[in-house]
Amino acid sequence: MGPVAEAVLLAMLLEPALLLVQELPGPATVEPAPCLNLKFDPWAMTLSWDCRENTTAVECGMIHAEKGLVSVKLQEKQCASSFWNYALHAGVTFHLTVNISQRQVTERLVYTNTGQEGTAAQNFSCVIYNANYMNCSWTKGPAAPDDVQYFLYVRDSKKQLGRQCPHYVQESGMHVGCHMQDVSSWASEAYFLVNGTSRHAEIRFFDSFLSLKTIERYNPPGNVTVHCNTTHCCIRWQKPRARSRLSDLDLQYQLQVQWQDNIERAGSQLIEVPGYLGNEYQLLSPQPRDVHTLRIRAADTRVLQWGAWSQPVTFGSKEVGGKLVHVYMLVVLGTVICALAASCLIQRLCRRHRLLSPVPQIKDKLNDGHQLDQVPWETLAPAAEKGDVEDLLTVEEVAEPTATTSDAATSASP
Ligand SMILES: *[C@@H]1O[C@H](CO)[C@@H](O)[C@H](O)[C@H]1NC(C)=O
Ligand SMILES: *[C@@H]1O[C@H](CO)[C@@H](O)[C@H](O)[C@H]1NC(C)=O
Ligand SMILES: *[C@@H]1O[C@H](CO)[C@@H](O)[C@H](O)[C@H]1NC(C)=O
Ligand SMILES: *[C@@H]1O[C@H](CO)[C@@H](O)[C@H](O)[C@H]1NC(C)=O
Ligand SMILES: *[C@@H]1O[C@H](CO)[C@@H](O)[C@H](O)[C@H]1NC(C)=O
Ligand SMILES: *[C@@H]1O[C@H](CO)[C@@H](O)[C@H](O)[C@H]1NC(C)=O
Ligand SMILES: *[C@@H]1O[C@H](CO)[C@@H](O)[C@H](O)[C@H]1NC(C)=O
Repeated sequence: MGPVAEAVLLAMLLEPALLLVQELPGPATVEPAPCLNLKFDPWAMTLSWDCRENTTAVECGMIHAEKGLVSVKLQEKQCASSFWNYALHAGVTFHLTVNISQRQVTERLVYTNTGQEGTAAQNFSCVIYNANYMNCSWTKGPAAPDDVQYFLYVRDSKKQLGRQCPHYVQESGMHVGCHMQDVSSWASEAYFLVNGTSRHAEIRFFDSFLSLKTIERYNPPGNVTVHCNTTHCCIRWQKPRARSRLSDLDLQYQLQVQWQDNIERAGSQLIEVPGYLGNEYQLLSPQPRDVHTLRIRAADTRVLQWGAWSQPVTFGSKEVGGKLVHVYMLVVLGTVICALAASCLIQRLCRRHRLLSPVPQIKDKLNDGHQLDQVPWETLAPAAEKGDVEDLLTVEEVAEPTATTSDAATSASP
């Protein structure tokens, strides 16, 4: 065996990647393993490599921080692969194996999120409301310099051209949120990327895939109506307007019924109604019924993030409430008048008492200096108390009618 043959044998025993190192002089050199030239476009989420006639793709995949090893099935003549649906901010390592003229070649590509940890935007969240609008928000990374500026890019799964946020929400010049319109035409999932710049440091990006269904908050159900007979109240409503067409199976409703039978006694009830029951509920509510207030809200059955409450609808006898208020006001008025009358009476009585007994008073005054030393405090104190008791008694007398009238009101109300 010549040295060339030995070299070939050695080469066949070695890993194909190691062949790169073999640089043999002479006419029959072993060709170096061809470079596949792996490239990754993060925005298009596509891994691509050089395409040649004699290249057969064998295996392709990546190691993802959260999802682990991800493999992709390849067609023989494929020269690119899409990795949609995997957030990249934790970094990924791609690998590709191909056959080139009976030789197997593997190449790796490490894609990293450059910049210091903690510089990326945090607490990213989005909400879709009113069927067509979306608001997103985030906070500054704790390690990001103060001059950091963040930018949001969004792309939906129809792979339409991505767009930058058209209307940023700012906080002292820094973008901390985004308001978008026309999201009703978007596909069911979207890719969100927040990257940033600073003069002092490289800023890491944050990215996320969100299912639009999970971030939508439904409008309140429309046209809420209540029709009552002697025993029941039939509550009806209409499906809320939403971003995409909703089937009744997707929807869940919550009915809040509150009632009040007088100023003290009130109650509340939450009723869950699945959408497939036809947007109708028979509330057991025998007559005579108190004043009820009804509100309804909707959510996706699987997500259960409740939307806003509908405007309150009242039903039940409003007159009872009206009457009660009148009675209450009459009682208050009565009390005030009685109190005034009583105090006038007392004042008049007192004055008359003073006018009628001037002589004993003078007598008292004369004795005053004399007796004061001898009279113990205990005997004086009850006298003072007596006056207090009298005052209390007059107040009680006035207060008594209050209690009886309100009793009458409660017994009259049912
Ligand atoms: C693969 O095909 C190209 C032409 O398409 C050729 O130049 C090259 O030498 C071939 N490589 C191998 C390893 O056969
Ligand atoms: C690639 O080559 C290996 C041997 O080098 C062979 O076993 C395998 O079947 C080939 N794969 C394809 C897809 O051609
Ligand atoms: C933001 O997120 C960080 C972790 O990512 C958490 O520790 C912090 O409490 C969050 N802040 C707010 C205001 O939600
Ligand atoms: C969405 O953002 C806009 C603009 O900042 C604001 O006016 C609106 O109240 C927000 N709506 C919701 C539901 O957050
Ligand atoms: C942020 O990402 C978008 C989309 O990939 C890119 O066009 C833009 O240049 C990036 N901006 C920064 C500051 O990295
Ligand atoms: C409410 O009902 C009226 C008449 O029945 C209808 O014209 C209207 O579109 C309904 N509104 C909603 C929000 O469904
Ligand atoms: C009131 O309506 C409910 C539901 O429609 C019905 O079951 C009930 O029989 C009705 N009661 C009377 C007294 O008509």
